[in-house]
Amino acid sequence: MWSNLSELLHMVTRWVHLIAGIMWIGNSMLFNWLDRNLVLPENPKEGLIGEIWMVHSGGFYQVEKKHLGPGQMPQTLHWFKWQNGITWLSGIALLILVYYMGGASLMTDPTVSRISSGKAVLLGVGTLVAAWAAYDTLWRSAIGKRPQLAFALSVLSVLALSWVQFHWLSGRAAYMHVGVMIGTIMTGNVWMVIMPSQRELVAATEANRPQDPAIGYQAKQRSIHNNYLTFPLLFIMLSNHFPTTFGHALNWLILLVLTLGSAAIRHLMNIRFTYRKWLFHATLVFFATCVAMLGFFAHPQGFGRARRAAGGAPALTWDDVEPIFRQRCQRCHSRYPTDAVWHTPPNGVVLEEYDDVVRWKERVKLRAVVLRNMPLANQTNITDAERDRIGAWIDQGAKED
Ligand code: HEC
Repeated sequence: MWSNLSELLHMVTRWVHLIAGIMWIGNSMLFNWLDRNLVLPENPKEGLIGEIWMVHSGGFYQVEKKHLGPGQMPQTLHWFKWQNGITWLSGIALLILVYYMGGASLMTDPTVSRISSGKAVLLGVGTLVAAWAAYDTLWRSAIGKRPQLAFALSVLSVLALSWVQFHWLSGRAAYMHVGVMIGTIMTGNVWMVIMPSQRELVAATEANRPQDPAIGYQAKQRSIHNNYLTFPLLFIMLSNHFPTTFGHALNWLILLVLTLGSAAIRHLMNIRFTYRKWLFHATLVFFATCVAMLGFFAHPQGFGRARRAAGGAPALTWDDVEPIFRQRCQRCHSRYPTDAVWHTPPNGVVLEEYDDVVRWKERVKLRAVVLRNMPLANQTNITDAERDRIGAWIDQGAKED
């Protein structure tokens, strides 16, 4: 009963998270795009900042961006904060459901550290709070007026906190916490800096005074940050489907390269219309380097913990490996798992009969032999010799007899 309910809760929360996230990021991309493509007509009306014509949904749209005078405030003004709010709230709910509940079995990995699951959760939450506090204090302080310095210090503090995460949490949990850290900073920016600035803009317009430039300046800074953080955040959301990233011995380096690389793509898109050629090409070169590095690191041969399958091993058959799957995997990976946390076969992977295992043999080799991050946190105490035997059996063609 509870396990069905929790499955339903997972599904609905993930769905809400995805829909709200698409709406939030989609809108923010649209507004960024609008801002870059506005043009000022020859004889602009008073207060006009720029305008644009578009065709969509069976009609023409003319959008104007403008300053308003007093008394010009429209009756209904649309704000865009709940798309972000719901994305963040559902994201936090998922973090709790997937990582913090169920004995936190995805949070820790004994090959990384022997921290208890309770401590791992505290550490995860602590780094999230610390990240926002450090970032926000930095940019509000006098250092915020020197963007290069503030940028360098923010990167350093986020790196330090990620180091803590990678040092004590499982690779997968560390990736997700870096993602939630970025998402929390972006959400803090929306609610604590950008929204207040927009409220002040409305108040200033109604009172016919100029907007406090300091508030407007800060909001602009934060929205630029959010713009660059979008792509790295989206990558981290997907990374959980790619154990080759978070399961790699150099998982932190892969994340760093992907973060810089995806922020660079965002930059390319930003400067597309106004670029200076050398800057454009430099960004392109940087991006290509990132892709090349990724190709190198993501290659399974690069896995620190990987070993070569024993050459010249005796010919192995299903009978030689069947007991390993029974003892080490089936607690979770069977049609009716007996594990306390996993009540349905994780990712639909069943490893009971010969045909089941053959069907999954590539993934089995990757997770249990190359990456060595299955069994989950090695809860069933598989030995290195058993891993090597599975690897040799698969390399020999996974024969039944
Ligand atoms: C304690 C429970 C548990 C045990 C024991 C366990 N797994 Fe898993 N397995 C999981 C969970 C949870 C996932 C989904 C999350 C993930 O991919 O990391 C998973 C996913 C997988 C996947 C699919 C991953 C993919 O990349 O598509 C494979 C293959 C796998 N396990 C193989 C094994 C093998 C082989 C064993 C035994 C040597 C094993 N597992 C033991 C919990 C377990």
